[in-house]
Amino acid sequence: MADPRPQRRPIIAIDGPAGAGKSTIARRLARHFGLLNLETGAMYRAFALKALRLKISLGDGPALERLAAETSIRLEPGEEENRVLLDGEDVTGLIRNPAVTDAASQVSVHPRIRAWMVGLQQQLGAAGGVVMEGRDIGTIVFPNAEVKIFLDAAPEVRGLRRFDQLGPAHNAQPEEVIRDLRARDERDRNRPDSPLHPAPNAVLLDSTHMTLEEAVAAAQAIVIAKLGSAGSQP
Ligand code: DC
Repeated sequence: MADPRPQRRPIIAIDGPAGAGKSTIARRLARHFGLLNLETGAMYRAFALKALRLKISLGDGPALERLAAETSIRLEPGEEENRVLLDGEDVTGLIRNPAVTDAASQVSVHPRIRAWMVGLQQQLGAAGGVVMEGRDIGTIVFPNAEVKIFLDAAPEVRGLRRFDQLGPAHNAQPEEVIRDLRARDERDRNRPDSPLHPAPNAVLLDSTHMTLEEAVAAAQAIVIAKLGSAGSQP
């Protein structure tokens, strides 16, 4: 007899360090397979922006927890990047600068902040049909995701990609960008709660020697191998 329970649409989890190409690859996969793209890093960034604005110490877990209790963060899928609403304000254009980037990594260390974010992310992806990218999607947020990809690349390559993305308006040397990225990696990989690491059943994709197009093609092939050519199941 057919199972009467409605089947959830698939979840594709993409995790990995900064600059590995997660956002672009997640966006391209979502478009290709007709899924929603959700960037969880943008949620940590929006919360970090609020903490910076209110001058709350990024190391003060209880103060951040109180702040979280009176904060609403919404993520809306968009054609290019996600739209992020912080207490109703569209902060999409304000969360990519280096100060917020570093602060996002700092606030994400606190277990209660993580628990709050994970709950929000689980609600967002509950119906499936999403490509969700971050650091702990395949390990904590959706351990039962149908497809898990851990995307990585050598730190120098990731740093140079980030440098190119920042563009000439950003007054930094490539070495500085690589140094900041290494520091953030270090923190994201070594925090006691949900450190960045591949889920045991994740497929590892190292894009060090790949062009973006090659990495996208490799990621598509991983999805097709897991889900079949349609990618998105009913
Ligand atoms: O992906 P990103 O660079 O926008 O993420 C910003 C920071 O947020 C990152 O340094 C660590 C944190 N983060 C996290 O801890 N867990 C996630 N699922 C996504 C991001």
